Amino acid sequence: MKILKYKIPIYQPFLSGNELKYLNECVKSNYVSSKGNFVKMFENKFAKYIGVKYATSCCNGTCALHLAIATLGIGYGDEIIIPTLTFIATANSIINNGATPVLVDVQNDWQINPDKIRKKITRKTKAIIAVHLYGYPCNMEELTKISKEYNLFLIEDCAEAIGCFYKNKHVGTFGDIGIFSFFGNKTITTGEGGMLVTNNHSLFTKAQYLKSHGKSAADNYLFKTFGFNFRLTNLSAAVGLAQLERINKILTMKKKIENKYRELLKNLPVEFKNGNNSNNPWLVTILVENNKVRNGLRKFLRENNIQTRPIFYPLHILPMFKSNRNEFQIAEYIADRGINLPSYPTLKSEEIKYICYKITEFYRITRLK
Ligand SMILES: Cc1ncc(COP(=O)(O)O)c(C=O)c1O
Repeated sequence: MKILKYKIPIYQPFLSGNELKYLNECVKSNYVSSKGNFVKMFENKFAKYIGVKYATSCCNGTCALHLAIATLGIGYGDEIIIPTLTFIATANSIINNGATPVLVDVQNDWQINPDKIRKKITRKTKAIIAVHLYGYPCNMEELTKISKEYNLFLIEDCAEAIGCFYKNKHVGTFGDIGIFSFFGNKTITTGEGGMLVTNNHSLFTKAQYLKSHGKSAADNYLFKTFGFNFRLTNLSAAVGLAQLERINKILTMKKKIENKYRELLKNLPVEFKNGNNSNNPWLVTILVENNKVRNGLRKFLRENNIQTRPIFYPLHILPMFKSNRNEFQIAEYIADRGINLPSYPTLKSEEIKYICYKITEFYRITRLK
């Protein structure tokens, strides 16, 4: 085995398409803020790719989620149901709208448990946020059914899930509103950036004016309501457009990486999530036997210059949430054991071999002890 002496990061963007060319065009034209052709081109191309009528860009995924909640008129006194196993931004966007996140455990597929949602619905519940965690789809059939049955809005947090389909339909197209993130570690990036998508024209129109200070389309400086400045810059949209031009290539590269990990680790006691090819393995994630092995393996890989991440800590264990931990046993069982492995598109085959060799070595050493 060739020993690699350099650091292997968990993620890095793949920016070798038209990114620089389009950025140059922005600089030359002086359109560097949120006015400029790339914003509209990126939004239109994104809507087409996802298969949705309308898309409006935002300065990041958290703001897109914040905007989604505000657009649906959810605020003080309202509750939104979310999975406990998610990134904190899902909860932050609710809290920052003045509403309350209500946590629900996940099921064995790591996604929110629809049966447990039913038990948490109160008169204050206004929406469910389905988080398609690590690029795998939630059970949208069941979630759509519940939201209709209880007259709740359905928001899809697809921050990690571009390229992820549920029954041949892209995620983000099932609910009232879907959002995406283009942070530097996402499948496609704009540096910082996000997108809000919907099939509902009036929600789209409202989201557009709320994200831009509440400006009405008719008169730029006639403000009918308070709003935000959540706009994406033309510079970021230029990068986003170039990235989107190569989305299929990037997804193919990422799927190959996940398959390689699966193949090389198949004889070790590590679990992968069941994929049926409708997912986008955003961060390849393995589950090991227990928390002690997880922490030991992460330390061993770090000492060997291989960066990893723990699966998200479930929100209910954070100090801001005082929750009964018994309610969230599956999320804890997954989070205690999960490790995200390097997963960027240009990760070379020899690098994956090296990472897997090191994981195998860890198991050999610990078994000998
Ligand atoms: C599930 C989830 N929701 C929301 C976000 C927020 O996106 P951003 O980092 O673009 O604000 C992220 C970011 O990683 C995420 O993973």
